[in-house]
Amino acid sequence: MALLQAPVGTRDLLPEELAAWRHVEGRSRDWFERYGYQELRTPLFEYADLFQRGIGEVTDIVEKEMYTFSRGERLYALRPEQTASIVRAYIEHDWASTRRFRKFWYMGPQFRHERKQRHRYRQFYQMGVEAIGSTSPTVDAETMVLAWRLLRDLGVRDLVTELNTIGCAACRPAFRERLREATIPRQAELCPHCQRRLERNVLRLLDCKEPGCAAIARELPRVVDHLCEGCGAHFDAVRGALDALAVEYRVNPLIVRGLDYYSRTVCEFSSPGLGGSQNALGGGGRYDGLLPLLGGPDVGAVGFALGTDRIVEALGAPLAAPPAMDAYVVAVDEESRRDCLLLAERMRTAGLSCELDHEGRSLQKQLRQAHRLGALRSVVVGPEERGRRVARVKVMETGEEREVAFDDLARPEGVAPRGP
Ligand code: HAM
Repeated sequence: MALLQAPVGTRDLLPEELAAWRHVEGRSRDWFERYGYQELRTPLFEYADLFQRGIGEVTDIVEKEMYTFSRGERLYALRPEQTASIVRAYIEHDWASTRRFRKFWYMGPQFRHERKQRHRYRQFYQMGVEAIGSTSPTVDAETMVLAWRLLRDLGVRDLVTELNTIGCAACRPAFRERLREATIPRQAELCPHCQRRLERNVLRLLDCKEPGCAAIARELPRVVDHLCEGCGAHFDAVRGALDALAVEYRVNPLIVRGLDYYSRTVCEFSSPGLGGSQNALGGGGRYDGLLPLLGGPDVGAVGFALGTDRIVEALGAPLAAPPAMDAYVVAVDEESRRDCLLLAERMRTAGLSCELDHEGRSLQKQLRQAHRLGALRSVVVGPEERGRRVARVKVMETGEEREVAFDDLARPEGVAPRGP
């Protein structure tokens, strides 16, 4: 019954899967902060026109993938990505007038109504950074080296790091026209999607995945050969910095990205080993025109976002066993249950993890449950122990057992942290 299923393209992340997620997110946070990024959390939804203007009207995301809804006069959208939101926050808080150069990281769910496919979800998760307030090519290189190091540190196999430039508002229009002219003679060979792109968003022809279009794209003019002086120098400087930092990357002239806000540097990270057509682990680039386009100051910006779902899938981490628990408190008889509740509470407030039975299970079943939950020790209380205000503490693995006074249970000489 559909009512009892998560919507198509969404899923529950189960406790045994989340160990890998928490590892990936924890390492990412650590790397982001090493590079001077601060966390910024933005709302899950924004006014839709932020994305319409920011990402571009003629992009797949805005044309067909946004989850929009209206309340009163306004149209809202669940965020399909977070760059536009971070830029909105930068402008709204007027950060340009205090400390112009700011670096933010973020992580969280994003929403796109895409066709369901392997490694593609309608609610997916991103971790990203945005460095706003500089046009320096070393910032481009710094964001790329960060993503590259993080993905390597996480252990992504066959990582492919690709770089390109798509020029700027000064040189791109002429290139676009050249590309269109070069493609028109081969129009009939293009997929229907690219036939439309020829008129509306000709650059996107270059990264079409259809084999016929991809073969044509390889023969078309390249942006790198048609850059203005400034863009050429910027690209050389980014490459020089990446080489100096010993980043393993290659230039792929066919990378253009699917969002309109990019200028100059664009990059993608992928893992062919992921399988399926959706093997991009992340992407990003420079977006110098976005702030002025949204009514903000004319400052440069660059960033990237990584797809957490795909990174976890690329790592193929085994499902994790439940984390070990310090103790399982076992009541031998009904009358001991109240003491067990109090002892568990005392241990928990002292920082220990423990569990106890609430279902009136037999002694045997409680001990079995302690094993199942991976408890390191059992703490058993019966009528005899209760009278003397002690518990029998047993190390589950070795069977080693001793008595510990109720009052000492949460002390180092009791259960915590290494004692039996
Ligand atoms: P994007 O290429 O659209 O860029 O998304 C970045 C990454 O998010 C993708 O490479 C992929 O790993 C993941 N992703 C995207 N869509 C899905 C999906 N439906 N299911 C699973 N994973 C997905 C951006 O979003 C830009 N905001 C990146 C950026 C930041 N550029 C500058 N700053």
